[in-house]
Amino acid sequence: MNSINLNISFEQYSGIDELTEKDRTLCQQAEQALATSYSPYSKFRVGTAIRLASGEIVLGSNQENLAYPSGLCAERVALFAIGTKNPEAVIESMAITAQTDHFEILKPVTSCGGCLQVMIEFERKQQSPIEVIFYCLNGEILKVPSVKSLLPFAFAEDRLER
Ligand code: THU
Repeated sequence: MNSINLNISFEQYSGIDELTEKDRTLCQQAEQALATSYSPYSKFRVGTAIRLASGEIVLGSNQENLAYPSGLCAERVALFAIGTKNPEAVIESMAITAQTDHFEILKPVTSCGGCLQVMIEFERKQQSPIEVIFYCLNGEILKVPSVKSLLPFAFAEDRLER
């Protein structure tokens, strides 16, 4: 029997002012994306901003549906839009934030497993890491250097090979 430990490294910031200008802009854009959230059921708005290597920033927000599972998270809305419009795009970084009128969010909201699985697919396809910034509007920010570090045991396409 082997006992193995996995470590992940990430950066923690106490506010948006500590970020580089590029990252600060991305977080501000994610905050802007909250305005287009369609979340009448959860009343929980999620916004994302994705920076491409070209410098273009693509926004996404959660889009809910009366048939709950038909809705989609902000991250996947933005990623699938990139996959459709610009399939060769290289993603450098994505920022994610959330907001609700019902309580104060005091910690960064991190992506769900389904979104991480989609994010890791993009990372593998482009063969370069995607930085992920979880931005809490109240201050604390976490910056992770790659999606792989968040999902080390992700389902991999080699499982489908014969
Ligand atoms: N949500 C996201 O947009 N991203 C995530 O990674 C997790 C959850 C959305 C889905 C739903 O509209 C709302 O947040 C509450 O779960």
